[in-house]
Amino acid sequence: MIETDKFQFIDQLLEQRQQTHQLRSLHLFDPEDAVYGVRGDRRLLNFSANDYLGLSKHPALIEAAQTYAQRYGAGSTASRLVTGTYSIHHQLEEQLAIACGREAALLFNSGFQANATILPALLDRSALVLGDRLIHNSLIQGILASGARLMRYRHNDLNHLEALLIKASSKSYSRILIVSETVFSMDGDRSDVDALIQLAETHNAILYLDDAHAFGVMGKGGMGLAACRTDVDMAIGTFGKAIGVFGAFITCSQKVKDYLINYCPGFIYTTALPPAVIGAVVAALTLLPKLEDRRHYLSQQADNLRVQLQHLNYTIGNSSSHIIPLILGDAEKTLDLSNWLEERGILATAIRPPTVEAGMARLRFALSSQHTPEQLEYLVKTIGAWHESTD
Ligand SMILES: Cc1ncc(COP(=O)(O)O)c(C=O)c1O
Repeated sequence: MIETDKFQFIDQLLEQRQQTHQLRSLHLFDPEDAVYGVRGDRRLLNFSANDYLGLSKHPALIEAAQTYAQRYGAGSTASRLVTGTYSIHHQLEEQLAIACGREAALLFNSGFQANATILPALLDRSALVLGDRLIHNSLIQGILASGARLMRYRHNDLNHLEALLIKASSKSYSRILIVSETVFSMDGDRSDVDALIQLAETHNAILYLDDAHAFGVMGKGGMGLAACRTDVDMAIGTFGKAIGVFGAFITCSQKVKDYLINYCPGFIYTTALPPAVIGAVVAALTLLPKLEDRRHYLSQQADNLRVQLQHLNYTIGNSSSHIIPLILGDAEKTLDLSNWLEERGILATAIRPPTVEAGMARLRFALSSQHTPEQLEYLVKTIGAWHESTD
């Protein structure tokens, strides 16, 4: 009998993460309200959540979740194609399509699941994907699973994208997909949606945009930068970020929706979203057009924080949204700042490779409309104190 430990590879790989200061672990954090939570015996001001409008704690969402659960049950009991399409799923899809001015919308159980399963359904081994260098892991997983050829263009460099499109035109790919985010999750900068639409049209490519971090916060009535554009072939929005709940959707043509209902395994072979989730999302979508003040304030606060961090001479990339990275580069130094902040009552999780590229470790500040100016001031003051202590 062979006596070697069959899980030795796990020891080795975890040790590797430990050595490079990249080991991840779970830490408890129980929310108190929209911006505070408790970890151990410490109350922390949270700058790491994606609850951009504070909706996760909104009474209207909580009440709707309770009402829907009372009326329809705790779970949806089956996949959408069996008995899991309740009237509430259908109505939410209608509500989304109308609010976005699109022909159709289709629900997915999460943004990760949507990207990881829609992309393989659209692609085959003879397809080409041109993806921005910084696209989210869920998009990469979907592309890799498809077996299609993936070429990455330099981040937001549309000249590079165009050059690749021109080169691809002389080859016989079954189809070409352009994949980008509208607001990039770790950098908070934006892609040029108009230019992407133009390039896709000129080169007859399919345009697939992930609107996860814009939906709820940007665009007319908070309906995102791509989800509501009829000239974007497919846009993914999530309910787990600004909407404050859970789940995701795609906006697209009726034809694409029909196709996905037939060919997308991550839609077909999974239990439908539970009623409480649908109720909370419906309540959030109803509120969304009325939250212009929150969106405006959030954008102003983000402008302020950028200016202050730049005054401290920190690199914040090209952020132009409520997501602001403080890029320190070195993973150990980033952890040090994160710990320093936590000891002083601020939660700002260190984001390290492989989530970001090597040498690009950072704190990612995700602002909420519920953060007060005083809380932001405290954040900047505390970072400033760390800055002085390390000089
Ligand atoms: C760009 C992007 N797409 C998709 C997702 C996944 O969304 P969800 O949290 O709904 O699975 C995320 C979340 O991290 C994201 O940042």
